[in-house]
Amino acid sequence: MKGVILAGGLGTRLRPLTQITNKHLLPVYDKPMILYPLETLKNSGIRDIMVVCGREHADHFMSFLGSGKEHGVKLSYALQDTNNGGIADALSYAEDFADGGSIAVILGDNIFENDFKKAAAGFASGAEIFFKKAENPSRFGVPVFSKDGKKILRVEEKPKKPKSPYAQTGFYLFDSGIFSVIKTLKPSARGELEMTDAVNRYNEEGKLSFGFVKGEWLDAGTFESLFKAAEFLRKKRKLRD
Ligand code: DAU
Repeated sequence: MKGVILAGGLGTRLRPLTQITNKHLLPVYDKPMILYPLETLKNSGIRDIMVVCGREHADHFMSFLGSGKEHGVKLSYALQDTNNGGIADALSYAEDFADGGSIAVILGDNIFENDFKKAAAGFASGAEIFFKKAENPSRFGVPVFSKDGKKILRVEEKPKKPKSPYAQTGFYLFDSGIFSVIKTLKPSARGELEMTDAVNRYNEEGKLSFGFVKGEWLDAGTFESLFKAAEFLRKKRKLRD
């Protein structure tokens, strides 16, 4: 299975830091942010990886990561021309790279303590998403479960009144059908092509499965969460050393 790291977007929530370099190259404790999703893919058994980045500071990615050899992976790059067209728009740039196969997709600002080796190895078709309990689910995609909790009725993007305490994390498994689904999406109220809409489409067709994330999950896209992520990683490192 190939992997895609989505590292486009403008990172406006982290200005003025993102005026100097790309959000995904900012430090999270002792490493640039992008190395965490890169390691998650690698630890999940995925070595052939495309980084989709925005135009701003795109050269910084290449000069830092190069061919990926140093990190034990093979990297390709794509530019998301639209800069802030949305997560699903960013993924559309990886269609040729996916070459008709299934893909693992990870958001460039998501940090996972554990890998997805088992899920990736066992994935056959459709789409699979992963949840984690969150203190503030309304910042995220939030699943609405059926009464018996066995099925998802839909995922709501940043609901004001979340219908469950879970957040949709930024790791997704898709079969090759994702690219035709993306082509049918319309921009959301915030003007973006939403991955959540693509996920809901799979759900309507009965082709969505879900799992829960074990271990810590952090989204480092705001000052507060960036700080918390660094603090968590520092504590973990100190315990290990
Ligand atoms: O972190 C998990 C959440 O990520 C999910 O719960 C939500 O369902 C999902 O929509 C997303 O929400 P965010 O508001 O946190 O997404 P954000 O705009 O911060 O973008 C996350 C990453 O996606 C970002 O680090 C880079 C990539 N991205 C984003 C946009 C808007 C792109 O590559 N291109 C884009 O145009």
